[in-house]
Amino acid sequence: MRVCVIGTGYVGLVTGVCLSHLGHDVICVDNNEEKVKLMQSGQTPIFEPGLSELMHSSMESSRLHFTTDLGKGVSHGEILFIAVGTPPLPTGESDTRYVEAVAKGIGEHLNGGYKVIVNKSTVPIGSGDWVRMIVLDGVAERQQVKVTASSSREEISAAFDVVSNPEFLREGSAVYDTFNPDRIVLGGNSDRAIAMMTELYEPLIQRQAAEDKSLPPVPLVVTDLSSAEMIKYAANAFLATKISFINEVANICDRVGADVTQVARGIGLDSRIGNKFLQAGIGWGGSCFPKDVSALVHTADDYNYEAQLLKSTIEVNRRQRLSAVEKLQQELKILKGKTVGLLGLTFKPNTDDMRDAPALDIIAQLSRLGAKVKAYDPIVAQSGMRHGLSDVIVETDPERLADGCDALVLVTDWKEFADLDFAKMASLMNNPVAIDGRNFLNRDKLESAGFRYIGIGR
Ligand code: UDX
Repeated sequence: MRVCVIGTGYVGLVTGVCLSHLGHDVICVDNNEEKVKLMQSGQTPIFEPGLSELMHSSMESSRLHFTTDLGKGVSHGEILFIAVGTPPLPTGESDTRYVEAVAKGIGEHLNGGYKVIVNKSTVPIGSGDWVRMIVLDGVAERQQVKVTASSSREEISAAFDVVSNPEFLREGSAVYDTFNPDRIVLGGNSDRAIAMMTELYEPLIQRQAAEDKSLPPVPLVVTDLSSAEMIKYAANAFLATKISFINEVANICDRVGADVTQVARGIGLDSRIGNKFLQAGIGWGGSCFPKDVSALVHTADDYNYEAQLLKSTIEVNRRQRLSAVEKLQQELKILKGKTVGLLGLTFKPNTDDMRDAPALDIIAQLSRLGAKVKAYDPIVAQSGMRHGLSDVIVETDPERLADGCDALVLVTDWKEFADLDFAKMASLMNNPVAIDGRNFLNRDKLESAGFRYIGIGR
């Protein structure tokens, strides 16, 4: 099928590349000229395992193109994905101005046959109908029809329907998640649009690119627009709550002398609870959980409902980030003048994303308390990325990091941190203390290397 994906961030680019790999003919549109040039030359602007290889092979077989020309994309696609960002505003609401601009632009270029417009961005509940109105405004502008109270939008002739198709991709495994989905959610009220979307996803549904091709077809969840939009928020809010829950249990474990890792295993084997997202630590971050939980609280507020549980989910997470600093205070007492080394900066491993990373709050708090903060992160060292890291000395390897430190804090569970030369690192430190903010390191190994090991809730 002919597909146009508008917006080439994580979601848009991964969607475009993966659909082209499944055999569809894809044009990706972005208004950032530099980024488009980069992609046209075969480079990916983001770090995502497997993406670059798939992108090359699709470009070689001419199933994947990049352009800044929205009109070209709209006339190419039977299915048009809106995958632009909806960053959080200071109030916690989503900023939908990019979605609005794209919807308007689509309307201005709509002509020819029937199109399905897909909301892939995480948009506030009710946005499906709103996008439809904005597209119609765009059409009206092109046709020079004035939408007034007497001439309703519905009189404007345009053949399209809007579908909500939320994504559940995790950064760092977005390609894998695309090819191995737990479910596909389609929200809309047009049978024709749902049928076209089902055809688009047929190779995924039949697990053609899945790791385990013998599994039964991927379940398709077809709903109305608002329910599909709500599914996305509810899924992320549930997962964030699950993590905040286990972190609260960890804090109680710390006080009563229990081990949260054993507790998590003990409760996770109950199939009603499930063993995933029960890893206690310094909490969740990234581009989705913080934004989506806040946006859902805000939506509830708009309807005069106080989402108390979700507010607590956020508050527990805020405090949890600082628990690493509290543990440092318990160990080192005065932090002023002490040197603290952070192992990892990104909000989780296998990504270069620093958005709402717990590290940022930890750095800010340590700096406020007068500590000197150093950090080593494999991807930050590699990319030279310095955004938002003005209060940190970024080191190029873990041993330089350890040199002269009064304590280390593991912030991100990068796999390679398990195999560091801890004995060497301990010998370089003023005081070999390790706060394991992800309960990731091997306590025995660290202790025999000379460290005092402190986990979260164990
Ligand atoms: C998440 C959702 O998983 C995905 O479905 C959605 O589309 C986007 O948001 P992502 O933000 O990429 O994906 O990261 P994820 O792997 O879910 O981790 C989120 C955060 O939670 C990370 O900071 C991670 O360190 C933390 N986390 C995760 C825990 O602290 N404990 C856990 O048990 C799991």
